Amino acid sequence: MTTPDLFAAERDDATAMAHLQQMRQTLHEHAHRYYVLDAPTLPDAEYDRLFRQLQALEARHPELVTPDSPTQRVGGKSLAQFAQVRHAVPMLSIRTETDTEASGAENFDARIRRELGLSPTDPAIGYVAEPKFDGLAMNLRYEQGVLVQAATRGDGEVGEDVTQNIRTIGQIPLRLPTEAPPVLEVRGEVYMRRDDFEALNERQRQRIAAGERGEKTFVNPRNAAAGAVRQLDPAVAAQRPLSFFAYGLGEVTPPEAGGPVWQTHFELLQNLKSWGFPVSSLVKLAQGAAELVAYYTSIGAQRDGLGFDIDGVVYKVNRLALQRQLGFVTREPRWAVAHKFPAQEMLTTVLAIDVQVGRTGKLTPVAKLAPVFVGGVTVTNATLHNEDEARRKDVRVGDTVIVRRAGDVIPEVVSVLLDKRVDDPAIFTMPRQCPVCGSAALREEGEADYRCTGGLFCSAQRKQAILHFAQRRAVEVEGLGEKLVDQLVDAGIIHTLPDLYRLGFTALAKLARMADKSAQNILDALEKSKQTTLPRFIFGLGIRHVGEATAKALARHFGKLDAIMDASEENLLAVADVGPIVAQSIRTFFDQTHNREVVEQLRACGVTWLEGEPAPVTAQPLSGQTFVLTGTLPTLGREEAKALIEAAGGKVAGSVSKKTSFVVAGAEAGSKLDKAQELGVAVIDESRLKEMLDGAT
Ligand code: IVH
Repeated sequence: MTTPDLFAAERDDATAMAHLQQMRQTLHEHAHRYYVLDAPTLPDAEYDRLFRQLQALEARHPELVTPDSPTQRVGGKSLAQFAQVRHAVPMLSIRTETDTEASGAENFDARIRRELGLSPTDPAIGYVAEPKFDGLAMNLRYEQGVLVQAATRGDGEVGEDVTQNIRTIGQIPLRLPTEAPPVLEVRGEVYMRRDDFEALNERQRQRIAAGERGEKTFVNPRNAAAGAVRQLDPAVAAQRPLSFFAYGLGEVTPPEAGGPVWQTHFELLQNLKSWGFPVSSLVKLAQGAAELVAYYTSIGAQRDGLGFDIDGVVYKVNRLALQRQLGFVTREPRWAVAHKFPAQEMLTTVLAIDVQVGRTGKLTPVAKLAPVFVGGVTVTNATLHNEDEARRKDVRVGDTVIVRRAGDVIPEVVSVLLDKRVDDPAIFTMPRQCPVCGSAALREEGEADYRCTGGLFCSAQRKQAILHFAQRRAVEVEGLGEKLVDQLVDAGIIHTLPDLYRLGFTALAKLARMADKSAQNILDALEKSKQTTLPRFIFGLGIRHVGEATAKALARHFGKLDAIMDASEENLLAVADVGPIVAQSIRTFFDQTHNREVVEQLRACGVTWLEGEPAPVTAQPLSGQTFVLTGTLPTLGREEAKALIEAAGGKVAGSVSKKTSFVVAGAEAGSKLDKAQELGVAVIDESRLKEMLDGAT
């Protein structure tokens, strides 16, 4: 891209104005590609460079700054309070069908047909089915194509002016294409994606840990979104990542004044999409009740895997003429209904707080709950993670708590209803002794967890170790589940892993609820598991910090188990993916005689795998290093540099963080360079990168 003669343009104000408009247009287009379409065509650095040119130009011509300029997304002043906004068209709510069976959809269709006076032989009604996004409703008002106001729903008549905060949402267009009507109000949901929510809470936890006052974590994405929208300081709001889906309209220039003519709801949504608004790809046309039911079932099945929370689906009559004919009852349209899914948050009570012992001896407090149906399953346990978490949430026995299960995340106690607490139950404290074997429980400096020091003396750790070894991803002993392992360990039949392979038919068949056939199946499965692979075996040993990927890398690198057992920490460090903590943990494991004995006995019992040759040691001069590229490098293209770094074992990331090892800066490096300097990350040029690639240090 050639650099335009920017400031020459200032010779003439009209030219400057035209030039500014053109730059803004370019930036708008790329922001849309980036935030809405998720398909950027401009490198970040180039966008940043254009953005800063625009800022510079606007600084010279403050009189030409317009509210729709991309530079105006953040930067408003902190407010004392929000102004009130009377909605031109009231923001209605929708009738809710709480029947979470398919019949909810059938009831709605039957009612619509009745109200339209249709007979059973009349054709099916066309609907639009949409997710019911779990965020907060927003009215975006555009005049002459420029976003002039964003308002919350409030009581439906009067909401709050939150324009400053809404401008910070990259997905919301600040300016519309010229074909948009002179007045257009777009309605939709402001929400927070689950990954953004998790990352925000993680940052909040770090702030709390660092002792920053007034910081808290958020209960769920909706609360976090609502908090961000109602932030008085737009700079804070800008750090809370929000998203938006359009689903309807408020005031629009009427057709007789030249406004758009739409026949259907679906058509108007397509139009909004073409003007730059995010419209969910889950919005679908549906004919008649059967397709509504199918939609409800299908979205319900996808719910956990979506990137955001939904609490149901919404059905809307598609033809706008029919919508008008159906009209409203009080504050709700007759042509739409919300069909809910089972709630993802429910109230229940804490019956007890148990402490569970994991495979590596980690003690985890678990709240035992009065059974509650939440997020589609019955929940009776919720992890409290560790002592600090349990105390931070201040969960006590007898408390009424909110339990949340969303996505495929494990159920969690999100908060305690303190005003429902009776008496003064004891604050949770972690026992200083393992609840299973009585060994001392210790919390190491800088660690969040207490651990039982009993090792394989502790039956809980033994059970977990056996289950870990027998799982599908390790040597796989089909049918060897938790209940059976409990029985075998509790009856003293199995003490160590090799005992598994010494099991006889009689011992097994004697166990309660064990039919002869099942006993034989277990023996067959054990026999089958003996033929395994080296990575599965290493993973199955349950060495701390050695997951499947590391086990594979070790097997590939060393080829043979003995080579791994005897490798020095230094040799281990040469394996891709193995850092000092992992290397030390592997060493410690094999330094213990009883662990070596377990391995020998397993081999003696007939557990085998094919051993290989060690992988040729390729020089990986950049392994463990993360690079960020910015600006134009003198000779290497972006992709070329990336490929070279990766071939040398390094990683290339898109943004600069504390974890970045080096920022490689070329000509006209953008904000990533500033960020590197701010964080104290080393900045190098292309020639230095080439030296590093060659293995020179
Ligand atoms: S349509 C006249 N569509 O649900 C109908 N609402 O009471 C106006 N919501 O808080 C709403 N997803 O913010 C509509 N696809 C969707 C929606 C949706 C979520 C929310 C809306 C409001 C409530 C309706």
